[in-house]
Amino acid sequence: MNLKNVDDVLMTTRSVRKRLDFERDVPLDLIKECLEIAIQAPTGGNSQGWHFVVVTDPAKKAAIGELYRESFFIYARARDEQAATQGQGELYEQQQMRVVKSAVYLANNMGRVPVMVIPCIHGRVENLGTMAQAGLYGSILPATWSFMLALRARGLGAAWTTLHLRYEKEVAAILGIPDDVTQAALLPVAYYTGEDFQPAKRIPAVEVTSWNQWGERP
Ligand SMILES: Cc1cc2nc3c(=O)[nH]c(=O)nc-3n(C[C@H](O)[C@H](O)[C@H](O)COP(=O)(O)O)c2cc1C
Repeated sequence: MNLKNVDDVLMTTRSVRKRLDFERDVPLDLIKECLEIAIQAPTGGNSQGWHFVVVTDPAKKAAIGELYRESFFIYARARDEQAATQGQGELYEQQQMRVVKSAVYLANNMGRVPVMVIPCIHGRVENLGTMAQAGLYGSILPATWSFMLALRARGLGAAWTTLHLRYEKEVAAILGIPDDVTQAALLPVAYYTGEDFQPAKRIPAVEVTSWNQWGERP
């Protein structure tokens, strides 16, 4: 394997929001190709209970975009209140400020994105224990991330979002998603504009890894 290319894709698949190109059409064959790659991901018991809803209809995208926008601003107001009461350190604050600006932009433009992809899984987590919950979400989230990596490798950007789920039922009604199906995310997909992407600053892995005993480092 060409480790440099593989590691580049793994380390530079960012949440693309401000640099989504709303004007450029995305060939649906590319979406199909990336979904074929995505379904190589693992599922609990090889259940393959996934289903991907691809939305290109302008009226449906606009309706979902509006629900996303409403939910985002409810979330943002609650976060503002929380942030006013707890300081988190300067670097974190700067990074968060960039994320917030970019997230506001996406919230105001979600409905304009060329393609939305909603990865779904058959089943509901309500009334399940933690083992079964992990099994359900764990059977759609790896495929969703693989899909984002495959997009990135082809020059397409996306952002993992979940805020539309405040209105999960309304979005299900727009798209005819059955009641016993769970939506895992909403990915706006588009070509991206501008420069290439860089690895993000993260808390080093060593600080969030224990060896043999919680809290033990080598
Ligand atoms: C489970 C999950 C839910 C997320 N929900 C949203 C969302 O609703 N809206 C949004 O703009 N970003 C959302 N994000 C993206 C995160 O804000 C983003 O991953 C984080 O800021 C790190 O940036 P990066 O992905 O560019 O490395 C979500 C990410 C994850 C993993």
